[in-house]
Amino acid sequence: MKKVCIRVERSFGEQLRLLLLDLELLDSDYPITLEGQHLILPLRFRIEDSVLSKLQHQTTSLTLVEKELALQKHRPTNLTEILQDIVPADVLPKIPHSLDIIGDIAIVELDEELTPFAQEIGKGLLLVHRNVAAVYSKAGIISGPHRVRALSHIAGEVRTKTVHVEYGIRIVVDVADTYFSPRLSTEHNRVSELVQSSEKILDMFTGVGPFALLAAKRQPVTVFAIDINEHAIRCLNKSLELNKLAGEVIPILGDCRPVVQEKLCGKADRIIMNLPHDSIMFLDTAAIAAKPTGAVIHFYTITSEENPLEKQRNEVLALLSSYGAVSNIVNTRQVRQTAPYESQVVFDIQVEGTETTSVI
Ligand SMILES: C[S@@+](CC[C@H](N)C(=O)[O-])C[C@H]1O[C@@H](n2cnc3c(N)ncnc32)[C@H](O)[C@@H]1O
Repeated sequence: MKKVCIRVERSFGEQLRLLLLDLELLDSDYPITLEGQHLILPLRFRIEDSVLSKLQHQTTSLTLVEKELALQKHRPTNLTEILQDIVPADVLPKIPHSLDIIGDIAIVELDEELTPFAQEIGKGLLLVHRNVAAVYSKAGIISGPHRVRALSHIAGEVRTKTVHVEYGIRIVVDVADTYFSPRLSTEHNRVSELVQSSEKILDMFTGVGPFALLAAKRQPVTVFAIDINEHAIRCLNKSLELNKLAGEVIPILGDCRPVVQEKLCGKADRIIMNLPHDSIMFLDTAAIAAKPTGAVIHFYTITSEENPLEKQRNEVLALLSSYGAVSNIVNTRQVRQTAPYESQVVFDIQVEGTETTSVI
């Protein structure tokens, strides 16, 4: 098709492109082409002489020309644009604006009214996110002892295993059988930055091991990484083959209570308790794992209207005191919002004088 274009010296091309974009004159459906030392920029319509002379004030070298140009393939950049002719207008605003990307797998939450369009939404996400190979929609809540969620495949490869990169470590994840949230990456990093050389760390609910891997990447430490989910421990073992670490991670498959009781009493300088809904039930285990001379516990919990922060702080301190420990919450941090009136929170607790004999 013949298009009206502006021909400009190459060195002025970028400046003019930005100006034409600002003035909404550039026709992005057609390509910008190079002709010797000149660029040809397609216009949406023939501009008036007065506009042309204003543009010439910016860049004297430009002229109007007509060129035969072919329509270029337009790559859509947002899901709403892709779906506007497929999804009814009243449902369109429900299209999700956020999703979790774990490695090359995207996980999206769909409103009930969008489920008939799940496959189109999945295909749309593959178009928008070029680094995504498979798309799943959430088919339930995170539940059960392994804290996993049912997923439903909606587009791309039928594959649930991937490698997620977080702060330079490669984490093997199976999204079908293990817990992993990219929304915790800042917290994984924060804890790893607190870790000191030579520490003995106990990661009581390690999952696929993001806290453990990152700590051992940064410092020459020993991390005892426990989980009851065999798929999670299998992923962690694979990650250990993929990463060069400064320290050592020892994956242990099992329930952290008997494992600590049998092997780890009084051993830990730092204890990570990321099982937010149930951590309180394992505080006794953390207390016997802590070095009596002093340790830090990163205690994760969920706060809500029924279970507010202050109440939980008091409960945790009272429990630790009943185990003989002198403890102090040195830092409280909101990790993320989990529902409208609910947050995941961490208490960093300094403990001393714990009993290493069993209180279980
Ligand atoms: C919320 S996930 C945390 C995973 C990990 N810390 C992270 O940041 O991704 C909790 C993990 O605790 C494990 N778990 C639950 N009860 C356990 C127990 N009694 N002993 C050891 N692991 C347990 C689950 O299998 C799950 O992988």
